Amino acid sequence: MADALKIGIAGLGTVGASLAKILVERRDMLTTTCGRPIEIVAVTARDRSRDRGVDLSGAAWFDTAAALAGTADIDVFVELVGGAGDPAHAAVKAALERGIHVVTANKALLAAHGVELARLAEKHGSLLNYEAAVAGGIPVIKALRESLTGNTISRVYGIMNGTCNYILTKMEKEGLTFGACLKEAQRLGYAEADPAFDIEGNDTAHKLSILTTLAFGTKIAADDIYLEGITNITIEDIRAAADLGYRIKLLGVAQKTDTGIEQRVHPTMVPLDSVIAQVDGVTNAVAIESDILGELLMVGPGAGGNATASAVLGDIADIAKSRPGAQTVPALGRPASALAPYRRAQIRKHHGGYFIRLSVEDRAGVFAGIAGHMAENHISLESIVQRSKHHTETGEPQTIILVTHATMEDAVRKAVKSIEGDGYLTGKPQVIRIERPKSA
Ligand code: HSE
Repeated sequence: MADALKIGIAGLGTVGASLAKILVERRDMLTTTCGRPIEIVAVTARDRSRDRGVDLSGAAWFDTAAALAGTADIDVFVELVGGAGDPAHAAVKAALERGIHVVTANKALLAAHGVELARLAEKHGSLLNYEAAVAGGIPVIKALRESLTGNTISRVYGIMNGTCNYILTKMEKEGLTFGACLKEAQRLGYAEADPAFDIEGNDTAHKLSILTTLAFGTKIAADDIYLEGITNITIEDIRAAADLGYRIKLLGVAQKTDTGIEQRVHPTMVPLDSVIAQVDGVTNAVAIESDILGELLMVGPGAGGNATASAVLGDIADIAKSRPGAQTVPALGRPASALAPYRRAQIRKHHGGYFIRLSVEDRAGVFAGIAGHMAENHISLESIVQRSKHHTETGEPQTIILVTHATMEDAVRKAVKSIEGDGYLTGKPQVIRIERPKSA
């Protein structure tokens, strides 16, 4: 039997503790599968004394992630500290510079420094594996990095934040408030340390930027993403969407267009009868459209200790199974020097359908005025409905909902601006993009 694979784990929070437990409890099974034992020989965590339900007394404790990565006698450094900057960044660099393989779940780190780290890994002959960084337990990195090689990809999109999907699902199904759903997601260990990263869409953006690079071979451009979170989505939007045959999901979408690559994260209407609309709770889904394979949709647990630990474990097992010298998968799917510059497509040129919800004064001519602005901007409508509230002499505000056929975003923005200028709106207009699966 080959020597044990010696791993050092930095970070023993929800994911780190789950990983350590699985490695200890399934040691024999993993030894058989990988052809060698996997041993936790070093760890570091903020709190040494916490009971994590696993005996780590055989591992050496280090004070910092940097010390562990820089000096421990390990084959693999497992980074579960999180965050784009130090200590995670410095520690991962230190490990790669020593020729040590790195497994990380840190999407923020890869979004910010992925190309630099990929270069370092190539230079020193180390592997940089990060399956857990995107869509939790779904093997989307492997699919894009290895399985789909040779395909030309046209669009990648998906539900990549378990917290947001959990909130939107609970709001719809249980009628709970946004705040109550978020609290529950935090309690269950789905949310980021700062949950603003989840609900404002940054977490999805980090993940999307990694998928964009793998799909289109361009440099990571996490700061060049059109971003809208879910904080403005109301129960009224969710109900109106359902009435019109849609469900609202926070999607990350990367798409090749004639003017560049669109990277966008925003609340999105998806047709109720599509598979992605049925993806509920903390579950994630990623769809990849490519020319040879066609449409691939992967659905699975997107956050939480075990789901994320499962992906980390798969990355570690890949290293345990590989032979020295045969470890050649480039971190970003192709050599870092072969990555092309990223060219951003303007969101105003986005072409698609739109849901527009307007709260208006209840008086004659409003409906006609709205329809007129749509026509002026050459926007063709799929439906327009007035959700009639009780009509009163004093004119209680009414809700008008429009669903457009595919049109240019610029036209929608101009039409909405003109409507706002007419003076009959009683609240801020809500505009939500519609995304259709290829097969829908
Ligand atoms: N906060 C993230 C989520 C964790 O809710 O999906 C997984 O990356």
